[in-house]
Amino acid sequence: MMKMPSFRAEHVWLAPMSGSTDAAFRRQAAKYGAPALVSEMVAGQSLAAERPDVVRKTCRHDGDGLWIVQLAGRRTEDMRRGAELLYAAGVDVIDINMGCPARQVTGGNSGSALMREPELAMQIIEATLEGAQGKPVTLKMRLGWDHSLLNAPDIAQEAVSRGVQLITVHGRTRCQFYKGQADWAAIAPTVDSVDVPVIANGDIGTVAEARDALKQSGAYGVMVGRPAMGQPWLLAEMEADRLGVQFTAPSLAEQADNLCEQIEDSMALYGNQLGLRMVRKHIAAHIDKVDMPLNELNRRQLRSELCQYDDAGKLVRRIQTVYAGEFELVAA
Ligand SMILES: Cc1cc2nc3c(=O)[nH]c(=O)nc-3n(C[C@H](O)[C@H](O)[C@H](O)COP(=O)(O)O)c2cc1C
Repeated sequence: MMKMPSFRAEHVWLAPMSGSTDAAFRRQAAKYGAPALVSEMVAGQSLAAERPDVVRKTCRHDGDGLWIVQLAGRRTEDMRRGAELLYAAGVDVIDINMGCPARQVTGGNSGSALMREPELAMQIIEATLEGAQGKPVTLKMRLGWDHSLLNAPDIAQEAVSRGVQLITVHGRTRCQFYKGQADWAAIAPTVDSVDVPVIANGDIGTVAEARDALKQSGAYGVMVGRPAMGQPWLLAEMEADRLGVQFTAPSLAEQADNLCEQIEDSMALYGNQLGLRMVRKHIAAHIDKVDMPLNELNRRQLRSELCQYDDAGKLVRRIQTVYAGEFELVAA
């Protein structure tokens, strides 16, 4: 029988994405109804040093939805201290990063590099659990380091035996980085190896793909990252499908208003200049995905134009105009 976590075990999660899942973006996803939202990873060491830019990454989003902060690190004392600080801040859940493939992270033995060093990985888990003082701890990882070391099921088992309450598996190995297609069926052995919920992650971009990923992996839920950029309602849509309730996509006017709100939130979070820069990737993703009769050239031109404004007032007015369909289209 599945052991249920001590927190609300949601089925649809927003994936942690450095530089993207800040409080401004998480607020939007939460506002549409995303049930669980993971912050960008923060290094236990930098959090322990209370660096303001790092503390900012952990900010609670406005609105409902679980507030989950992800910790990465290679030193047990930093992970313990980081977890203590997150406990004190009142986060709902602490997630441990064992999935990041970046060389600057794996080079320091954290992120997915820990999957090659199970002993150190377990010490890090134990230290995080100690610092968390009973606050739920979850673990996000990949299938393994490469296809000769697909040890996610073993690591999951060990982690759960120490007290980790939920596991997320991105259906790629570290050596695949983001190449190819995530393998949802390859997550099944991890699902079978533990009696806690396992969340499947990687390339789940539609309701149909969410169903397919669940079917192939047998997982309890899904985690969605890049596909939610530019359509933060996607998680709510998946949750509605799971519950068998109707989902109405936001109107273009609502999308525009919410994107403008995200721009304001981003400026409030980082300061005006940096805030505008940080939100540009979200604006570009909105233009890529918006359901309007735009050809590739139109989208490219709009992306480029909207990502150049230094004046937030003008940017917001232009977004409203674009979403109202009041602009010149260039023929392909
Ligand atoms: C820009 C970017 C930043 C990411 N940052 C993190 C991170 O901080 N922690 C983490 O565990 N995974 C991180 N990931 C991986 C995602 O959480 C997720 O596992 C991966 O993108 C696959 O899911 P998707 O296809 O839904 O995006 C990042 C991915 C991207 C594209």
